[in-house]
Amino acid sequence: MLKKKIVVISGAGISAESGLSTFRDAGGLWEKHDINEVASIEGWKKNPEKVLEFYNLRRKQAAEAKPNKAHLALAKLEKLYEEVVVITQNVDDLHERGGSGNVIHLHGELCKARSERDELLITDIGDSSIKLGDKAEDGCQLRPHIVWFGELVPMMEKAATEVENADILIIVGTSLMVYPAAGLVNLSPLNIPKYIIDPADLGFLKNEDWIHYKENAGTGVVKLVQKLTR
Ligand code: APR
Repeated sequence: MLKKKIVVISGAGISAESGLSTFRDAGGLWEKHDINEVASIEGWKKNPEKVLEFYNLRRKQAAEAKPNKAHLALAKLEKLYEEVVVITQNVDDLHERGGSGNVIHLHGELCKARSERDELLITDIGDSSIKLGDKAEDGCQLRPHIVWFGELVPMMEKAATEVENADILIIVGTSLMVYPAAGLVNLSPLNIPKYIIDPADLGFLKNEDWIHYKENAGTGVVKLVQKLTR
């Protein structure tokens, strides 16, 4: 076992080849839906049914999706490296279903719901829908266990500590447009190998010593894992 810690930061792009829409690419979710209406605490207060419908549909789609080669390749790293931590902005469970054993969900999880009043009262709901009137154990309305815009990111501190202690950093499939998650990339030790897999040119790359695999995750992550496990 290599005594090294690999930290992966992933976004919607790693699930694109599993058939799940990203947010900001052409045809992405934020082209079809108004973020404020379906992914903010204000939207929830204004029209909870619209929010529930948005996540019920995404939950069903995520449950029907399969982990792709990128998810499977990342899981393979755990066979050779002492510690592999996946910090994901994704709310699907494709990393877990692909075999990764240590996944931190910064923005919540579709397959979980929680009390509208008590964010610690969380329950697994698999691919079930949440309807208005569905109650948590405390008698309050059930809501998606998702971090909406305008809400705190409870796992941020844990994620920051992982990045600060990384020996290798891998970024895959995120535009790094949303804070505080995007700020994680600035916390890694300076002199470690840093890789990014994304078909797009990302602005921050210009002034950094990142090794950029300018291709889809399904090929780029597989190539990188082959290099790291040679
Ligand atoms: N392989 C790798 N990367 C890809 C692929 C692919 N097949 N397809 C698209 N990408 C890249 C895009 O180039 C882009 O950089 O994935 C990134 C997707 O960016 P976004 O759609 O902004 O998704 P993400 O970065 O995960 O968004 C972050 O924003 O709306 C919030 O909560 C939401 O967690 C989400 C956060």
